Amino acid sequence: MALSIEPSLEDALAAGWTIPTSWYVDPEVFERERTAIFERSWQYVGKADELARPGDYLTARVGRVPVVVVRNGSGDLAGFVNVCLHRCAEVVRGAGHRSTLQCHYHAWTYGLDGRLLSAPRSEREACFSTSDYRLEPIQVGQYGPFVFVNLSSAAPSLEDSLGELPDRLADGGLDLDGLVPVERSEWEVAANWKVVVENYDECYHCPVAHPSFTRLMEVDPDRYALEAGSWWSRASTPLRSWPEGRAVELPYDPTGEVTVGQFGYLWPNFTLVQNPGPPNAMAFYFVPLAPERTLVVSEYLFAPGTPPGLVRDMIEFNLAVGAEDQALVESVQRGAASGRVGKGRLLLDSERLIQHFHALVAGALAESDQA
Ligand code: FES
Ligand SMILES: [Fe+2]
Repeated sequence: MALSIEPSLEDALAAGWTIPTSWYVDPEVFERERTAIFERSWQYVGKADELARPGDYLTARVGRVPVVVVRNGSGDLAGFVNVCLHRCAEVVRGAGHRSTLQCHYHAWTYGLDGRLLSAPRSEREACFSTSDYRLEPIQVGQYGPFVFVNLSSAAPSLEDSLGELPDRLADGGLDLDGLVPVERSEWEVAANWKVVVENYDECYHCPVAHPSFTRLMEVDPDRYALEAGSWWSRASTPLRSWPEGRAVELPYDPTGEVTVGQFGYLWPNFTLVQNPGPPNAMAFYFVPLAPERTLVVSEYLFAPGTPPGLVRDMIEFNLAVGAEDQALVESVQRGAASGRVGKGRLLLDSERLIQHFHALVAGALAESDQA
């Protein structure tokens, strides 16, 4: 993929420079990213428990495109572009349960397979056949409890995109099938989505900016392991060991079968965290709202029977780290928006997952230039 990047940019990225700072503020880059990145990659839309029964559906927006995912009559997940073939209203809104997809504007009614079943008054038209109309199907995939869609029929499958990531996370103790959803939260940050991903991709800042995290997990570069595949990356680190008898205030009691922290990433904007302690997972999904605004959606999952007080403590720990990160990324955004530093300089030993991310961003934009 990196071969199509402009040679001077490719060289700069290889040498440890970042992508141009202007890419974090430029509305034109933001628009190109919608098409070249978000409308061609796997995008998280919801959890499988929201789509348990035939007829359950949920809606989302991917890039510029409204989408709907349903559990169809065969029990399979199916996805469609949620734009009515009559006059382009979104066919269905929100989420819930229904036997057909009926448009809220003039009641054109589609089956759960996307085919048009009926259109009021169409029998009064000389040349109208419902069989000529079908909502555009899109790819749907599932990883554990997480449901994704991809608007590009040419994109690699979700399984291929995830590559070795599920196995690597499982090696580190993550068992998604043994977890149940507990809570969801959302918040907005005043930063470009790429700044948010980059902050997730390195723990160089942890000893400086995350005191509770640093008391809980190892942040030394010799213990904090980094690895990457084509479309994914992962960091992992063990629970920190303290000298016997030393009193250290931890953010929660990490006693449990999970002894490593894991930080998985799927291109371009889905992440999965496992904290040491009882079996748990926290998904963080970064939705670009505007060049300088990003919505963070988080889903918390725990093993059934985890004590509620411990669940609360672990969620509060993540929210505290998230608040610390929000201050950091918003500071970066203000600095980037100043236009006074054209590109940043990575320290690759600690920040090579950002380099990996930047190669994917630059490759996707270059490919769209050449398309
Ligand atoms: S726009 Fe959907 S029925 Fe008219
Ligand atoms: Fe952080």
